[in-house]
Amino acid sequence: MLKIGSLRLQSPFLQAPMAGFSNDAWRRILLKFGGVGLLASEMMHARGSLEMERRRKTLHGRLFGLPLREKGDRSADGTQNSDGTQNTEDPLRRFAQNGNSRNRTFGKDAAQNPFREAGVPLSVQIWDNQPEPMAEFAEKLIREYDIQTIDLNFGCPAADVVQKAHCGSWLLQFPEKVGELAEAVVQASARASKALGLSAPVPVTAKMRLGYSAEKLTHLEVARTLESVGVSAVTVHGRTTRQMYSGTADWEKIAEVKAVLSIPVIGNGDIRTAPQALDALKTYGVDGVMIGRTALNEPWIFRQAFALFSGISESEALHRPGPEFQRDLLLEHFNVLLEQHEEAEAVMLMRKFAPCYGVGMKNARQFRVRVVQTRTAEEFRAAVREFFPSETLSIDGI
Ligand SMILES: Cc1cc2nc3c(=O)[nH]c(=O)nc-3n(C[C@H](O)[C@H](O)[C@H](O)COP(=O)(O)O)c2cc1C
Repeated sequence: MLKIGSLRLQSPFLQAPMAGFSNDAWRRILLKFGGVGLLASEMMHARGSLEMERRRKTLHGRLFGLPLREKGDRSADGTQNSDGTQNTEDPLRRFAQNGNSRNRTFGKDAAQNPFREAGVPLSVQIWDNQPEPMAEFAEKLIREYDIQTIDLNFGCPAADVVQKAHCGSWLLQFPEKVGELAEAVVQASARASKALGLSAPVPVTAKMRLGYSAEKLTHLEVARTLESVGVSAVTVHGRTTRQMYSGTADWEKIAEVKAVLSIPVIGNGDIRTAPQALDALKTYGVDGVMIGRTALNEPWIFRQAFALFSGISESEALHRPGPEFQRDLLLEHFNVLLEQHEEAEAVMLMRKFAPCYGVGMKNARQFRVRVVQTRTAEEFRAAVREFFPSETLSIDGI
């Protein structure tokens, strides 16, 4: 099974960080299905976050509900409970015991840290281009939050991050600089972990693309550099910065990285179905597969992929929840957001998620147009009722 530093993941299928989507409510939805080996936070700018904390004296809200570290917690491993006992319960098995999860709700009554309870570690992604603030921020995160890995962003292609800030995948042009930043964070993690008396340092991972452009591929040099400074695993999205999200992910190049590293390599890009995820593991020899956009439409993809990986037959593993379940899930997701945010903010967040749940549905476009106009919880629920009326539900392909 995939091991990242001292962390043993229960599944080789990992949630991709996605800015604007990777919040606590979304992670709870993914956890609900099981089959996901690692959950991801929003990416956070080191200097910006430190500055925000200096001004407001707290980071907690900005951290999208990352759980706080409990006093006296010595485990560096997300599979341990706060009382030190080992959590061996497989979230998939728990899902099976709970049937279709229809009766399971999250929120006020749920354990404060359901991720730890389920043994699914949390990764926090940070970005910047200066070693000192990255190290300081990583140290702070490890000391104060119940997180299990720090991920470094060398993959973001957004203009604000690349052109303006010279961060994210801009840095792939400068492998030495990448090494300097990663080394600073690896050392910071060692310091913070030691100070906390953790049984092992919190692993530092990195997420990268193939290079800045097709003419400037640096994937092998960057990956080797990351390994040499003590990074515990590398995720490779098989595109260049210039490609943004166009074209297709080049998994042959991801396999080239796997061939030159000893640390785990996680492949990422364009996985649309659970069989594809399993196939990527087998064909390209990667240690894990990270899934992003498809999980927004089908949050059960990790569960399906893990079921296939565990040898369950396709006919059983690929069972898709029905449309009524999808509607209930959407409303449940909204309820979790309502418990964690002000109503207006919860609606704003749901205006992004709801169209994803609607993909493949007849009238999906109209649903999107309708839902992005909602302002209140009642308006949002009315839009859902309008487009997901149980008696006339029809979702393509079911
Ligand atoms: C809306 C959106 C936000 C993203 N935000 C991040 C991010 O914050 N950090 C990161 O490393 N990658 C980010 N990505 C890239 C994804 O993690 C992933 O590498 C990419 O979507 C390819 O995987 P997929 O084809 O499975 O979606 C983002 C992608 C999308 C679509």
